[in-house]
Amino acid sequence: MKKRIVSGITATGNLTLGNYIGSIKNLVIKQNEYDIFMFVADLHGITLPIDPNELRENVRKQLATFIACGIDVNKTKLFKQSDIQGHTEMFYYLTTISNEGQLKRMTQFKDKLIKNNNKTEQIPLGLLVYPILMAGDILLYNAEGVIVGLDQKQHLELTRDLAIKLNSKYNLNFKIPEPIISSFGSKIMALKTPTKKMSKSDSDLNETIFLLDDPKVAKEKIMTSLTDSENKVYYDKDKKPGISNLLTILSVIKGITIEECVNEFKNSNYKEFKKSVAEAVAELLETIQKKYYSLTDEDIQNALDKNRNKIQQEASLNLEKVMKGFGMR
Ligand code: TYM
Repeated sequence: MKKRIVSGITATGNLTLGNYIGSIKNLVIKQNEYDIFMFVADLHGITLPIDPNELRENVRKQLATFIACGIDVNKTKLFKQSDIQGHTEMFYYLTTISNEGQLKRMTQFKDKLIKNNNKTEQIPLGLLVYPILMAGDILLYNAEGVIVGLDQKQHLELTRDLAIKLNSKYNLNFKIPEPIISSFGSKIMALKTPTKKMSKSDSDLNETIFLLDDPKVAKEKIMTSLTDSENKVYYDKDKKPGISNLLTILSVIKGITIEECVNEFKNSNYKEFKKSVAEAVAELLETIQKKYYSLTDEDIQNALDKNRNKIQQEASLNLEKVMKGFGMR
């Protein structure tokens, strides 16, 4: 039996090169080997206020982008989170075995709290409990592994913790899911501030490469990204965060090691090196966009319909187990 993997991306903003390298690319590579359940997390998308039309548009764009990046619905079970009944119910059962302390320790929550001047009363409760919804997404399919970038590791630890509690308290046998985080590219950094994560919600658009950026604009973003004054290409994350980030991006896109990349550019200046990175990124975006713009609404609907019943069956099966465990059945 193939190992089962779950992965999701929140339906806020446009997908970035960070999402591609940290998550989508790995799912595309692993779809031959694993039984993958991949979804657009629209329920996670309403954690913070969002215009309903924008949310709908984000969901459509993300699904099309996944397919354009190489997600194949003949291999991967692709879906929209809210289409499958059970995510919010699984979430509720898990809240009963979670505690506030654990949730308040989540780095992502603490970051948002700081941005909100530490005023907890004004933070939507959804933001605090969001990691439980994520744990529910994973346990609903009884996954063995979860493909994510480094920023989601802490949420995975909570999921594992909840799975262990669920099993021991209610005599169940859910798998304890392992995080699958690639050793390179699991944290792509912002272009102008390479000490922070590249993010789809960054207010400065020049920090981020979006997969639907005009390739010329993307090239410009790479050419003007922040580096250092040494003008020598080598990998040192602490001393040279900008160059190291570009090396990571290039090595992942080209499918070569950092050493091979460094070797290729050891006699180049930054301008030459950046030009090569810019070209590789632009080429990747062109390939993705060519497919993206050829997809129709019907193609996307067909992709969603393809495995809907199988996905729902699996979700219902696991939800029933939990309901039985809790005494509802
Ligand atoms: P989200 O939408 O913030 O990010 C989606 C995926 O992309 C990865 N990622 C990155 N990887 C490398 N470098 C970056 N700069 C970068 N930015 C984002 C994230 O680690 C993630 O893997 N809570 C999740 C979505 C989710 C989920 C799930 C994931 C909901 N339920 C169940 C797995 C399983 C989130 O907000 O990811």
